[in-house]
Amino acid sequence: MRILSGIQPSGALHIGNYFGALRQFIDLQRENDAYYFVADYHALTSVRDADQLRAYTFDVMVTMLSLGLDPDRATLFVQSDVPETTELAWLLTTVTPMGWLQKCVSYKDKVEQGLSAEHGLFAYPVLQAADILLYDADLVPVGQDQKQHLEITRDIAERFNQVFGGGKEVFRLPKPHILESVAVVPGLDGRKMSKSYGNTIEIFDEPAAIKKKVKRIVTDSTPVEAPKNPETDSLYHLFKLFAAPDELAEVERRYREGGIGYGEVKTRLADAMIARFAPARERRAEWLAHPGRVEEVRAAAAERARATARRVLDRARRACGVG
Ligand code: TYM
Repeated sequence: MRILSGIQPSGALHIGNYFGALRQFIDLQRENDAYYFVADYHALTSVRDADQLRAYTFDVMVTMLSLGLDPDRATLFVQSDVPETTELAWLLTTVTPMGWLQKCVSYKDKVEQGLSAEHGLFAYPVLQAADILLYDADLVPVGQDQKQHLEITRDIAERFNQVFGGGKEVFRLPKPHILESVAVVPGLDGRKMSKSYGNTIEIFDEPAAIKKKVKRIVTDSTPVEAPKNPETDSLYHLFKLFAAPDELAEVERRYREGGIGYGEVKTRLADAMIARFAPARERRAEWLAHPGRVEEVRAAAAERARATARRVLDRARRACGVG
């Protein structure tokens, strides 16, 4: 199967990105033909400093490599190294009804948070559809917040096939791959962990920063002895992502029976987080010491990605009669 997904370089990646997306990227690279990319065209809708965008793009590449994405198995590229993406986005935009984009919650959400209502933000899902359709993707591993974008991608593909395909399939229809248990990783305040909410814990935060942030996770004021409901507690939700099964069973029992304090859970969570990412932290130091190697990975992947993209773009151009 062809797997494809992207991540925006709008800052350091956080544990929502890790559990919602990156971990699936790593699992799926083994048995499939995987394409993963750093979505720098998309990040332009929020990052407005060229040096910063370049630095974030590099940082996201390094983060992916450090966590175990293997450049010999997966094609790990940067979106803008394949300018064919923007041409396909234009072809797709000609068949995309305004109403579909007006319905998009992520656009409304971002404008509410203060991003200006620019056309790029509005047309963002069309560019995302181009990313996905350009590589004939079968499966797209993402978190829950991308579900609507995946639906629009399928709708656009179907419409293009109908309008220009004359009954033939120009684009393959992709499916989302969303794991229920990690679809929405909560942040420090219990809402979805997101850079724009300022409630994140970054994967490569220093151990002291992780400890400090974990202490800030919002809990209720149930006393230590009283029973607690693990299902409604975002601290427990986070703990569950990191704990070993026997440790989790013990903590769950003590939640239900009473006798565990949130302070204890926080200490254990911070320790587990630091331990989980320790090997990746070492690999990260290695990659950072050899930036030339990252550039080599990027250049080789761009070549592979572009060859695939070129074939699909030519198919789309032929179907609609340009060029
Ligand atoms: P982005 O960069 O916001 O997030 C990258 C991935 O991380 C997931 N994610 C989460 N999952 C669970 N819980 C959370 N709290 C959480 N926060 C983030 C996201 O769902 C996503 O899978 N538009 C995309 C980038 C993109 C893309 C694509 C994705 C551009 N083109 C093509 C797939 C295919 C985005 O902004 O993701």
